[in-house]
Amino acid sequence: MKRIFLTGASSGIGLAIARALIQNGHEVWGTSRRTERIPALLGMHAVALDLADRESLGATFRSASREAGEFDVVINNAGSGYFGRAESLSSEELARHFQVLVFGQIELMHLALEAMKGRPRGLVINVTSLASRLPVPFMAAYNAAKAALASYTMSMQLELGNGPVRLVDLQPADINTSFNDAVARAESNDPRVEQTWQAVDRNMKNAPPPDLVARAVLKLIAQDNPPPRITVGDTFQSGVAPLVFRLLPQRVRLWGLKKYYGI
Ligand SMILES: NC(=O)c1ccc[n+]([C@@H]2O[C@H](COP(=O)([O-])OP(=O)(O)OC[C@H]3O[C@@H](n4cnc5c(N)ncnc54)[C@H](OP(=O)(O)O)[C@@H]3O)[C@@H](O)[C@H]2O)c1
Repeated sequence: MKRIFLTGASSGIGLAIARALIQNGHEVWGTSRRTERIPALLGMHAVALDLADRESLGATFRSASREAGEFDVVINNAGSGYFGRAESLSSEELARHFQVLVFGQIELMHLALEAMKGRPRGLVINVTSLASRLPVPFMAAYNAAKAALASYTMSMQLELGNGPVRLVDLQPADINTSFNDAVARAESNDPRVEQTWQAVDRNMKNAPPPDLVARAVLKLIAQDNPPPRITVGDTFQSGVAPLVFRLLPQRVRLWGLKKYYGI
């Protein structure tokens, strides 16, 4: 049985991960901004956490950690998006985005790694996104934040080396959740923005269910030597597209992404 701290356990990918972990005999300290959104399951401990609230993050993590004894695994999963032209993004909104998707997650990762120091095993999983490599149009802040966390994760993997505490960058491609319902959308009369939104929404509705990510997490937790980065999604998005993308010059990448979103 492992004790696991999981952010964003109230819906979508996080909820699927929480359910799978509990079904497999693990205990989960699952977070939400509103704990009533966390299902009352045996093995689930609801934790109130808002990544936008810098002041409370450390105290919340430490208090959950004391309750658990110690965490074997910490999963940074919570997140949300902003959709609209980058020019319409205020610097306040941009900073709020980076607080939630980058600074808050880094703070939790540091706290987790510090607490795991000297222990025989430990695992931190950062849920970034395929958008860190293949950006989605009109989601500049989200793409950039996910790329920042992915790069920070890779940098820390260099520092950690092959010790007993491991760090994994889990990059979902499109996964069918209600993520888009929580996306803040800027008003726009640009038809390219609307066209992209239709494609983004359609892709997510046709995407695999979040259980796919939950199964990948169960596998990571069971491995002695987990891969440093995994991409989870349908075969085209998680396998073919990133591989082809890697080989293309930047001009062709931009052309391909515009074609993909129909803009
Ligand atoms: N679905 C996809 O296609 C996809 C693709 C790539 C990456 N991802 C990433 O996967 C993660 C989970 O997304 P999802 O699709 O499962 O979305 P979701 O269903 O909207 O779930 C998002 C979770 O994050 C929590 N959350 C949102 N803002 C928060 C904040 N400021 N502080 C603390 N918690 C917050 C929400 O909890 P409350 O609202 O209850 O507080 C909820 O539990 C995100 O990091 C997302 O970027 C998703």
